[in-house]
Amino acid sequence: MQPTENFSFELCRETADWLLARTRQRPRIAIICGSGLGPLADSLKNPESFKYMDIPNFPHSTVSGHEGQLLFGELQGKPCVCMKGRFHMYEGYPLWKVTFPIRVLKLLGVETLLVTNAAGALADSYSVGDLMIIRDHINLLGLAGLNPLLGPNEERFGPRFPALSDAYDSQIRALAMDTARLLGYSSFVKEGVYCMVGGPNFESIAEARLLHVLGADAVGMSTAAEVVVARHCGLRVFGISLITNKVTKDYSAKENVDHHGVLEVSRRRASTLQALITALVGRLDSCSSSSGGQKDGETYQNGV
Ligand code: HPA
Repeated sequence: MQPTENFSFELCRETADWLLARTRQRPRIAIICGSGLGPLADSLKNPESFKYMDIPNFPHSTVSGHEGQLLFGELQGKPCVCMKGRFHMYEGYPLWKVTFPIRVLKLLGVETLLVTNAAGALADSYSVGDLMIIRDHINLLGLAGLNPLLGPNEERFGPRFPALSDAYDSQIRALAMDTARLLGYSSFVKEGVYCMVGGPNFESIAEARLLHVLGADAVGMSTAAEVVVARHCGLRVFGISLITNKVTKDYSAKENVDHHGVLEVSRRRASTLQALITALVGRLDSCSSSSGGQKDGETYQNGV
């Protein structure tokens, strides 16, 4: 059982208040930058940054390629907060720690969470360098009983039994697809199902085949747990995976994935993902939860 007493509202409040006392920025949009995708955070205007190690109660990031900083600043003139580096279960953190920042973001006033990650392709039609808008996820750890919401429910964040059938906001997904079209990205922007596994090892061939048969198009070691906590506390969520490798499903294949290769592709394609997220953030106003998201889609021409 995880030490759920550490996942208290008061602890999250303490961290949020510490940050609110040190920045005047009041972001409504948060972005989690996955492996090698830190340049997105660096593109914020008028940035104010806080190292994770200086933020009370925050875990520290231990993986190379995952720098640990929370950055406040503007993207397309909108106040945003970026997590440059995230936490993973394979680093040894319990899931309540992996997802602790999400609840802090909620208490900072964030309403919309944009999540990025690096992922391996299971779908045969995907290529390295593709972007996959996450339509839905398979939280393999959660299905097996390892869920960040285990333990007494904190009603101040959300209900005991949150629904997840609409986890990835359909209006933002449609807006992102339209934005990809306007950027000329349609040929390599897909939509699919992401599966979160624990890692740190990459998948065996039998595991890759299993995940594919289960309906996953891409696999990675993050995101689903964060999204569960984000949806529990009512954040709107958009997720996108950068496909950094094809996951081998064939015993005769010679190539093998490694973290270095994953980071290399992330760095090479970071600017593409950055351009899509930046343009999407610029258009998010046109996509409120109560009204259609595509209204000004036809008039959007600049900003790319
Ligand atoms: N498997 C799991 N996680 C990953 C992969 C992969 O192939 N690529 C990037 N993250």
